[in-house]
Amino acid sequence: MIKGILFDLDGVIVDTAVYHYSAWRRMANELGFDIDEEFNETLKGISRMDSIDRILEKGGVTLGKEEILKLATKKNDWYVEMVEQMTTDEILPGIESIIQQIKDLGLKMSLGSASKNAPKILVKIGLMDKFDAIVDGNSVTKSKPHPEVFIKGAEALGLKNEECLVIEDAFAGIEAAHAAGMKAIGIGSKENLPNADMNLSSFDGENLSDLLKKLQS
Ligand code: G6P
Ligand code: MG
Repeated sequence: MIKGILFDLDGVIVDTAVYHYSAWRRMANELGFDIDEEFNETLKGISRMDSIDRILEKGGVTLGKEEILKLATKKNDWYVEMVEQMTTDEILPGIESIIQQIKDLGLKMSLGSASKNAPKILVKIGLMDKFDAIVDGNSVTKSKPHPEVFIKGAEALGLKNEECLVIEDAFAGIEAAHAAGMKAIGIGSKENLPNADMNLSSFDGENLSDLLKKLQS
């Protein structure tokens, strides 16, 4: 039985995935190459330092550790600039309703994000105090598809792994959920997220009890 919901942040609660993409693209362009949306899909859910490694490899660019750290800071500054402009209008459709349904059903919820900026974003959009626990890039050491972030989320809620359901927009995030023994709803197409237990384009108009029944049947 599902007793807790573990939410990814970027691309699930707010569409910061587009801000990450825009900042990474700007960095790649400055280095003299480009990245496209298809490649960006492979970056979703991946930590900042692992993402930069993948992007540099994609562009065939080799840099020293210090230079890489400088670039990561620069990318994050661009990203944070965009995040600072965010308002509650950017909460994705259906999220506030699904959170209310979680509370009404007496379920618990935790964040399970790889982002070190997660607390800043949750405060900005006014959802911080809805969460019973926050597990983010500041509390994990291993990037999705490693299950650490979700295992810690279940622990923080005092639940068994199999009692938790993950909500994810990243292929790597759904792999992480499965590696933790959890089911996952994919926010995104079957084409991008063929590994999800159920695909939704958003939570708009969705009934949580019905979704849970479908997932458990
Ligand atoms: C999430 C996003 C990734 C991002 C990572 C780290 O998993 O999907 O695109 O790289 O968090 O985010 P941060 O805000 O710490 O750079
Ligand atoms: Mg995401």
